Amino acid sequence: MSVKLTWWGHGCWLIEVEGQRIVLDPFLDASPTAPLKAAEVAADWILVSHGHFDHIADAGSIANRTGAGVVANFEICQWLAKQGVTRTLPMNLGGIQRLPFGQVQMTLAFHSSQLPDDSYGGNPGGFLLTVAERRLYFACDTALFSDMQRLADRPVDLAVLPIGDLFTMGPDDALEAVKLLSPRAVAPSHYNTWPPIAQDAEAWAQQVRDASDAVVHVPAPGQSFTL
Ligand code: NI
Ligand code: MN
Repeated sequence: MSVKLTWWGHGCWLIEVEGQRIVLDPFLDASPTAPLKAAEVAADWILVSHGHFDHIADAGSIANRTGAGVVANFEICQWLAKQGVTRTLPMNLGGIQRLPFGQVQMTLAFHSSQLPDDSYGGNPGGFLLTVAERRLYFACDTALFSDMQRLADRPVDLAVLPIGDLFTMGPDDALEAVKLLSPRAVAPSHYNTWPPIAQDAEAWAQQVRDASDAVVHVPAPGQSFTL
């Protein structure tokens, strides 16, 4: 069973596996680089890493229209429930949920998590997905931290890492993250949405290839690759 990944710009990814469509950090209608609008999204599950607008903006509307289950921290699930989202699956750092497509662990992230209306958004997180016998790590918005190395206790099949800098780690620290994780494949995320996080992803990909054995995927917004 393969896993198909599609980048929808910024930190938003579609993961297709086991016939399920999982949308991570939906930010489409207000994103200058998104290849589609929230109203066009079909989703079975939505994962939200933290409360910032550029990760949660379209979660409520997609969940309410599609009935997708929303996986997020407890505080974000409570906030979405107040907006009418009925199927929330709250969790917190370190926890694992076993879902029809595989398992989801919420991992550490060093960032912040205020919600768009200034509500408390709990702790920010990343996600380690174990799907189709593969381990996919979405660091989401975070600085580099050495405990990432713990994830490499078992093989990491894909690491999706922010490279935009300024609000997250930048290209140099993302290269260090690759060295800690030793992933089989890597993809950059959270860049080129706006000028302050513009990066040369192809140059970064070459640095990763020179420094590791990882296969590097650099999709344009709307493009896919398969594991
Ligand atoms: Ni953020
Ligand atoms: Mn962000």
